[in-house]
Amino acid sequence: MCSDVVQTSTAISLSAVEKAFVTPQGVVHALARTDFNVVKGEFVVLLGPSGCGKTTLLRLMAGLERPSQGQVGINGRGLWIGAKRVDETAADLGMVFQDANLFPWFTIEENVSLPLKLRGFPKSERLRRAQQLCQLVGISGFEQRLPRELSGGMRQRASIARALSYEPSILLMDEPFGALDAMTRDAMNLELQRIWLATQKTVVLVTHSIQEAVFLADRVVLLTRRPGRIDEVIDVPFERPRALSVQDEPRFLNLVSHLRSRLDH
Ligand SMILES: Nc1ncnc2c1ncn2[C@@H]1O[C@H](COP(=O)(O)OP(=O)(O)OP(=O)(O)O)[C@@H](O)[C@H]1O
Ligand SMILES: [Mg+2]
Repeated sequence: MCSDVVQTSTAISLSAVEKAFVTPQGVVHALARTDFNVVKGEFVVLLGPSGCGKTTLLRLMAGLERPSQGQVGINGRGLWIGAKRVDETAADLGMVFQDANLFPWFTIEENVSLPLKLRGFPKSERLRRAQQLCQLVGISGFEQRLPRELSGGMRQRASIARALSYEPSILLMDEPFGALDAMTRDAMNLELQRIWLATQKTVVLVTHSIQEAVFLADRVVLLTRRPGRIDEVIDVPFERPRALSVQDEPRFLNLVSHLRSRLDH
């Protein structure tokens, strides 16, 4: 990675990144050549039609997929050297998936602190951090419960806490609230904004919801149909913290209707 050309304020850099999957049925071009930088501390939302390559793009940022072409940089350092992922670079990344993916037989505290256990943190430190994180995401008091004893929204809070446990500077989220009902989703959007403002992480979030995208994002990145490419990047200038009532304002509704018409094309 050419760190001299990547600004120090850049958290994620994609330089001429492409992704094609080779399958028995042929080559699937998931992502066309893409150049994009995420600024440190920014909240970026990826929006686009189903199958356009959003998850692929996020997994490329997470180092879970290797680009077929191009370079991915995290905080100025390359994520891949040849076919080898650089684990020290990937340590700056936390990932949250659509399903909370908690281990059902572990307590919430054990789930949240599992990445610390894998990294060899002593037990006292693991417990201290798990308690702090449960407080941050609003599930204090549920540390000793099993995942099935929590609601879907609470499980997603636990999964955010787990992703934050080893203090990555970047949080990557793939439709984290897609399975939640509308009211819980609104509440989680507010919570995520609060956590983001409190921790000053860089966040990249994938969603199908135009409303969610405009509510959460500093910038919305609109992708075209497969092979996905960046169609438009839209600044969302509303001040923070945003209240849910911003969604009733004409400037919010205008952005939503603009994005909807682009997606309908
Ligand atoms: N591991 C893989 N092997 C083969 N093809 C894949 C693989 N992963 C993704 N694809 C293909 O790449 C394209 C983009 O998939 P991706 O999951 O990134 O889309 P998406 O925008 O996240 O879709 P959705 O909105 O439905 O979640 C799809 O055609 C998909 O079938
Ligand atoms: Mg997806």
